[in-house]
Amino acid sequence: MGTGAFARPVERSSTAVSFAALLALVAITTACRIDMHTQPRQNPLSRSDFYADQRSARPPVEGTIARGQLHEDSYFYTGKIGNNPGDVMPFPVTKEVLDRGRERFNIFCAPCHSRLGDGNGFVPSRGFARKPPSYHIERLRKAPLGYIFSVMTEGFGIMPDYSSQIPPQDRWDIVAYVRALQLSQNATKADVPAGQKIPSEPPNFREAGSGASLPVVMPESNSKPEEQK
Ligand code: HEC
Repeated sequence: MGTGAFARPVERSSTAVSFAALLALVAITTACRIDMHTQPRQNPLSRSDFYADQRSARPPVEGTIARGQLHEDSYFYTGKIGNNPGDVMPFPVTKEVLDRGRERFNIFCAPCHSRLGDGNGFVPSRGFARKPPSYHIERLRKAPLGYIFSVMTEGFGIMPDYSSQIPPQDRWDIVAYVRALQLSQNATKADVPAGQKIPSEPPNFREAGSGASLPVVMPESNSKPEEQK
């Protein structure tokens, strides 16, 4: 009906009627829209007289746990069984775990503890208040794995904690590497697999390390020395 009305000027009165109807429709629907705009609500963190503490935002229900933060496996996150440090790794130690542990250790711990773990790192040599103990003393060699984890997680004495810089998985990787460092300095003949020479042959280096970089070892296949002198 609409198009016909606009096309033929004879039916002018009918055009006016439909125009008025349209206007009325617009008026009704806009009123509705304004109503939606002025509904009662609170701006974020605004004041409210509705609650006793006058805060419009409600705190989460007590005991609420954010997504991804349900730390059910508490040993993995604390290194403790009850109140005491445990002496097991929460996952199997593979070469990848030790490689990652070495990398993270050299970044986060070696500046103070040295790459050997003897406590003669750079930072204490430049005036840090206390020299860290060597990992190779009997007390720390006998310390349970979970203890080393908890030192990183909670800090120890003047050593700060590293829980925000190093995620739990990496902290465990470092624990495994610290234990490997300790074994490397306190090995006996009994630890050497049968048939292996003592002392073992040194690796062939492609590049000697500097103070700031690790030495690069030749791949297994071409690391056989050409001539034994
Ligand atoms: C800023 C220097 C610094 C860094 C970095 C550091 N430590 Fe320490 N660490 C210390 C000092 C100092 C002590 C001795 C603290 C004391 O006795 O007050 C210590 C002590 C320790 C101990 C022995 C605790 C004991 O019972 O005697 C362990 C294990 C340890 N650190 C592990 C680590 C590991 C693992 C890292 C790397 C994630 C690390 N530390 C990084 C300075 C550091």
